[in-house]
Amino acid sequence: MSATAQRSRLSAETLHPALGARVQGVDMRDCTEDTLRQVHDLWMEHLVLVLPNQHVTDEQHVAFTRRLGEPEIFHQEIIKSRRVREIFRVSNVDDDGVLMPPDHPVARQVALAQFWHTDSSYLAVPCMGALLHGIEVSRSGGETQFTNMYLVYEQLPERLRRHIEGRKARHNFGNLHSLAKLREMSEEEKAKVPAVWQPMVRVHPVTRRKSLYISPVYNDAAEGMDQASAKALLDELTAFASQPRFVYSHRWETDDVVMWDNRCTMHAVTPFDPRERRVMHRTTIMGAEPPIAG
Ligand code: SIN
Repeated sequence: MSATAQRSRLSAETLHPALGARVQGVDMRDCTEDTLRQVHDLWMEHLVLVLPNQHVTDEQHVAFTRRLGEPEIFHQEIIKSRRVREIFRVSNVDDDGVLMPPDHPVARQVALAQFWHTDSSYLAVPCMGALLHGIEVSRSGGETQFTNMYLVYEQLPERLRRHIEGRKARHNFGNLHSLAKLREMSEEEKAKVPAVWQPMVRVHPVTRRKSLYISPVYNDAAEGMDQASAKALLDELTAFASQPRFVYSHRWETDDVVMWDNRCTMHAVTPFDPRERRVMHRTTIMGAEPPIAG
């Protein structure tokens, strides 16, 4: 094979027995089709990839995301970047660079990422995945934890499995407003994100593996159950899914980009000192179809 025809293989270092790999040798600004295919294969295998040393602008971040799928534009103006609309600002610093007080409505909403969730599960077609760029990383906490929902499903005790097979849970963006004690959503806001019912077991469209599909920060009901029983079930599933044997916790370095598959993982950030700046920019890849019930 000639030197130009030789393809360099990416190396992936496993980060936790359940999920996560660090992949060296990717430059998001200049990535060949072959490298992109390898990244996608590794992503399907490890669910969460850490791409270190990505010195990307927001525009380059979005351009790389677009090669994996259509970037989602978040429905709320207050969270989006003013300059690059595909950027969702996971940040306690506003668009002008000013640290927000912890009781600022945006800071309160962003802090809800401390609850386990999978992104945009409140949409009829939830997103496929997300890529988060660490721009100013916190040292007092602020690690992002990920759990492997394939393994969770496979290891669920029979009693819990019986409760979720064939059942749907409701995913409601409005639940955030109650949890963060934000003002009531207007009718116009509610109409943009009506609550949806999603299967509690879903089949991944690429790997065909089944996983548990819940998103506790948005779930406010389960089909055929009264509110107290639904809450008890969702709490028990969340506690089961967040056991250390299923969870990789990422300690950020500046210019890490972490990409995760929202179709088979959940994530939650660990608490951190709100006086410390934390600026992370996320792109979100739109899904191609509604969740396939398992
Ligand atoms: C997110 O939930 O998208 C962000 C997680 C984080 O703040 O690390």
